[in-house]
Amino acid sequence: MVFGASGMAGAAFCSAAVRRGFETKAFSHRNPVKVDGIAGHTRLDLNDLNGLERPLLDMWPDVIVNAAAVSEPDKVDQDPEAATRINVDFPSRLAEIANHLGARLIHLSSDLVFDGSQSPYRSTDLPNPLSSYGKQKLDAEKKVLKRCPENLVVLRVTILTGNSPSGRRSVHEKMLRSISKGKRLTLFADEYRQPCSCDSLAAALVELCQKPKLNGLFHWAGADRLSRYEMGQLILDRFALPQEVLKTGERKDFAGEDKRPADLAFNLQPLQGKLSTSPATFSEQLEAMDVPDDLFPWFQENSQNPSCYVRRLVVD
Ligand SMILES: NC(=O)c1ccc[n+]([C@@H]2O[C@H](COP(=O)([O-])OP(=O)(O)OC[C@H]3O[C@@H](n4cnc5c(N)ncnc54)[C@H](OP(=O)(O)O)[C@@H]3O)[C@@H](O)[C@H]2O)c1
Repeated sequence: MVFGASGMAGAAFCSAAVRRGFETKAFSHRNPVKVDGIAGHTRLDLNDLNGLERPLLDMWPDVIVNAAAVSEPDKVDQDPEAATRINVDFPSRLAEIANHLGARLIHLSSDLVFDGSQSPYRSTDLPNPLSSYGKQKLDAEKKVLKRCPENLVVLRVTILTGNSPSGRRSVHEKMLRSISKGKRLTLFADEYRQPCSCDSLAAALVELCQKPKLNGLFHWAGADRLSRYEMGQLILDRFALPQEVLKTGERKDFAGEDKRPADLAFNLQPLQGKLSTSPATFSEQLEAMDVPDDLFPWFQENSQNPSCYVRRLVVD
């Protein structure tokens, strides 16, 4: 069972799980689940936890993957109480039910549980979240670890790259959309991340489903640590778009931005040594990035070398 199956991580996992031959039941709220071969799709608003028990008891899953979240820090700040219901109350209740069912629970968490002052972070390092989102993710970690102590993985991941089902969620999609509207972007040269491909995350999750003896709190990410500015430059390069739209900045020069964690690189051991999936390099992640369909005409007009990107055709 996959919660958050219409989101970036959830949809990538559903595709990988179906390819692996798992009978995969998907849950989402507002958006469809665009994955062929799933065994069922249910829309459920996780604000109402009374509706949760019935489908879980009916399906009695072997493994539950929780990729549902209010996953953007700005959205958490806009309505922290509503976000707490999805980011904390829901996983906490899910862990109780999973424990009761004897189901394996794999719950996704975030690098933003750290303050960014002492990277690379091991999963045993002390968290110190700076944002409300980071605090909620840490709170959820503690609750699920307490309520489902034996058959549980909490997997912290870094910023996700790849193609989101909406074409609007991932880093490169947001960048291309802003530039297509004529905006110039300022990206920080002093904010470091270790971007993670959602396909490599999905492959790691499939392996974790199949390794019931591997339990606990782990880190997963890509292979490369880059500043936000470097990421932006490489994305523009990949699509042969002019670099002039990008400016470099520093967090201290923007009010409030110095509260963003400076460096959230991860140490991937011990998990990396236990999985056959490899962390994806940023070059591999760039290769997998698509131009969202509705932006393709704009891309063809504005790229300095439109043939650098071959559009993937989806055959029904
Ligand atoms: N994206 C990143 O860069 C990143 C980085 C680090 C960690 N993470 C973590 O990875 C996990 C997945 O993130 P993501 O980026 O894939 O998320 P996402 O694309 O924003 O998707 C969120 C999912 O949660 C579902 N959801 C939200 N509110 C709901 C509600 N009231 N009822 C039912 N479902 C609801 C959404 O369903 P609908 O769309 O159908 O409404 C969607 O399927 C999260 O735990 C996040 O904290 C993400």
